[in-house]
Amino acid sequence: MTIKSRVLVVGGTGYLGKRLVRASLAQGHETYILHRPEIGVDIEKVQLLLELKQQGAQLVTGSFEDHRSLVEAVKLVDVVICAISGVHIRSHHILLQLKLVDAIKEAGNVKRFLPSEFGTDPARMENAMEPGRVTFDDKMVVRKAIEEARIPHTYVSANCFAGYFLGGLCQPGHILPSRDSVMLLGDGNQKAIYVDEDDIAMYTIRSIDDPRTLNKTVYIRPPQNILSQGEVVKIWEKLIGKELKKSSISAEDFLALMKGQDYAEQVGLVHYYHVCYEGCLANFEIGEGGVEACELYPDVNYTTVEQYMKRYIYFYL
Ligand SMILES: NC(=O)c1ccc[n+]([C@@H]2O[C@H](COP(=O)([O-])OP(=O)(O)OC[C@H]3O[C@@H](n4cnc5c(N)ncnc54)[C@H](OP(=O)(O)O)[C@@H]3O)[C@@H](O)[C@H]2O)c1
Repeated sequence: MTIKSRVLVVGGTGYLGKRLVRASLAQGHETYILHRPEIGVDIEKVQLLLELKQQGAQLVTGSFEDHRSLVEAVKLVDVVICAISGVHIRSHHILLQLKLVDAIKEAGNVKRFLPSEFGTDPARMENAMEPGRVTFDDKMVVRKAIEEARIPHTYVSANCFAGYFLGGLCQPGHILPSRDSVMLLGDGNQKAIYVDEDDIAMYTIRSIDDPRTLNKTVYIRPPQNILSQGEVVKIWEKLIGKELKKSSISAEDFLALMKGQDYAEQVGLVHYYHVCYEGCLANFEIGEGGVEACELYPDVNYTTVEQYMKRYIYFYL
């Protein structure tokens, strides 16, 4: 029997982080969560930590402001997964991970580090537009530090979190699908890739002890979930038994929307632009430095777009 790595999740109370913790426990890993004293009186976080602890996770205290505490935390485990925030409309702390990289380098015991990525492959976004490119640029700064420190790693390119993209029928600023109307981005025909967040966590944990993913990018591309906005809308229409009223917005008008928006919203709009107008997620073949999760783990029954979207029907009942 192979021994399962011990895992530390940093950002374990976050939107993706808590799913990573649960998936790690479900797959039988001894699982630690970094508990940051900066939690203050955030009652939701404390309750979540208690819940995750009851499910079997262990808490280890450490702060990004205290290098020694990070070194001691990473010394407890074989694998470190970071899910620190990186969505401007929530919060964005990708570069804080440089402190984690320093700690992992000093500790010297970590067999695999998975930085907070879980989206578009930043290595493919060198021509991304301002100001949205900050997400990709910051993630590349972290990659460079990891590689310079010669830390064994895996980068997970998870494509679109289903909750953001399917929930809003691929419209920025929406996370619930309308039963009446939808605005198509351009002709709505560019393919994107949608992944249930729990599946992202499951595939991520599957990859951590897998030699095939060492120093590689794992792309999560569930074959049935490579769909255009128009196809997503059709699935929703079928589920609600009704056709939506459709309008569309040209690329120029979409970009013009950025004027007058705050910085965080502009960043988000640029991401939608690259995904929905340029098709940046699905318009390339995975090259030598990459592997595809559904091919690596064909036994996983991933959630299809239709299965995922069924939950929204109940929302309106
Ligand atoms: N592909 C997509 O569609 C998509 C969508 C959303 C996010 N993402 C990516 O997924 C990753 C995780 O994002 P998320 O939305 O799950 O993150 P999140 O919930 O916004 O935040 C995750 C964690 O970040 C930590 N954090 C926040 N502020 C901090 C600070 N000042 N100092 C230290 N830690 C701080 C907290 O960890 P504690 O638990 O320690 O408090 C928090 O729980 C990011 O890389 C993001 O870019 C991708």
